[in-house]
Amino acid sequence: MNNSEQVSESADESATDPANVPAPNPSFAPQHILVTGGAGFIGANFVHWVARNHPQVHMTVLDALTYAGKRENLDGVPAANLTFVHGNICDAELVESLLSGLNQRSAAAVPPIDAIVHFAAESHNDNSILDASPFLNTNVTGTYVLLEAARRHDIRFHHISTDEVYGDLALDEPRKFTEDSPYKPSSPYSASKAASDHLIRAWHRTYGVKATISNCSNNYGPYQHVEKFIPRQITNILAGIRPKLYGTGSAVRDWISVEDHCTAVWAILTHGRIGDTYLVGANGEMSNIDVLRMILECMGQPSDAFDHVNDRPGGDKRYAIDATKITRELGWRPRFTDFAEGLDETIQWYREHEDWWRPDKDATEAKYRLQGH
Ligand code: NAD
Ligand code: TYD
Repeated sequence: MNNSEQVSESADESATDPANVPAPNPSFAPQHILVTGGAGFIGANFVHWVARNHPQVHMTVLDALTYAGKRENLDGVPAANLTFVHGNICDAELVESLLSGLNQRSAAAVPPIDAIVHFAAESHNDNSILDASPFLNTNVTGTYVLLEAARRHDIRFHHISTDEVYGDLALDEPRKFTEDSPYKPSSPYSASKAASDHLIRAWHRTYGVKATISNCSNNYGPYQHVEKFIPRQITNILAGIRPKLYGTGSAVRDWISVEDHCTAVWAILTHGRIGDTYLVGANGEMSNIDVLRMILECMGQPSDAFDHVNDRPGGDKRYAIDATKITRELGWRPRFTDFAEGLDETIQWYREHEDWWRPDKDATEAKYRLQGH
């Protein structure tokens, strides 16, 4: 890979620490990003963050609007920053037309796409246990389609992945995941994400695609679907349903605010070393039962006002991220490290956005009942 092919301009440093070590690559200043899955939880937060912090950047969001995506998640993003395309990443013709500029609403005013930031995925473990096929289509075939397009157009590609590709850690060991941890996915979801990571690495090594990967821990914040742990418990309480804890609740997740994930993605896209993987986390390890007790307390509920339900088959015990590399090499640090405060703000967001989550609630709970969750 020839790094000199990258645009070399001074990029905004808002996601990096000025006291950092020199960036390992010439910096890259994207002008027009194809954001796949930009109407989902993390993608929408990323689009809002980029529009606020880098308003010179245009974004084309390509999203299939599955059960997990909502067009209104992008309400408030200035029209000048955004082109929304309702479509599937597996549609090679559509992806090609976007990269060729043929599908651009106002082609004259918008530069060609020079980067793909790939969030689109089927993202929920429990769904993957019920039916793995959409996970293989979107997460594997969809990533392949995008990689081939990036290869043809020789553009920058950042792939969003998860720490779940590394399997799990024991509850009682000090070890955390690093970039050298072996791949050992446990669920159909994490196996499909591991497969997509391998495609990225192979397309970089074989064809020179200018790719980077981030593997992040569990995110929390606004716009997260009510199927996920934290929003499910908050909206259960708001809807008068008892929260549901899988098994004993001893499993540990390493929580990070979604905004910190977004700044890490930006730091990697603009300063990351081509071909490299970066782990992203905020030292937010907490057991599920402790998180649930914090939610209960924050929402004025007794600490035992929840039900124990079936554990997830093959459920991972513990995730924990060692984020030394991204901190040392790119100067990235999480800003929102007060989890109690972040949780409080998230609860407040769901209180204020019942019209956003209510339409999904009944169907989500009905599906969970079938799984004994
Ligand atoms: P999400 O389920 O909230 O959103 C996924 C988005 O992708 C939705 O808008 C959906 O409509 C869209 N999509 C799905 N299939 C598509 C297809 N075939 N074509 C086009 N669009 C499609 O997911 P999320 O939680 O925002 O996760 C985003 C990415 O981050 C995923 O790749 C996930 O693996 C990764 N990740 C998530 C977490 C987390 O805690 N949520 C942590 C680490 C990594
Ligand atoms: P989840 O949000 O699905 O994220 P992931 O499995 O990808 O880490 O679940 C987080 C943890 O919470 C996981 O150990 C399963 C558990 N969990 C519950 O205890 N109750 C629930 O209702 C859900 C959805 C998850």
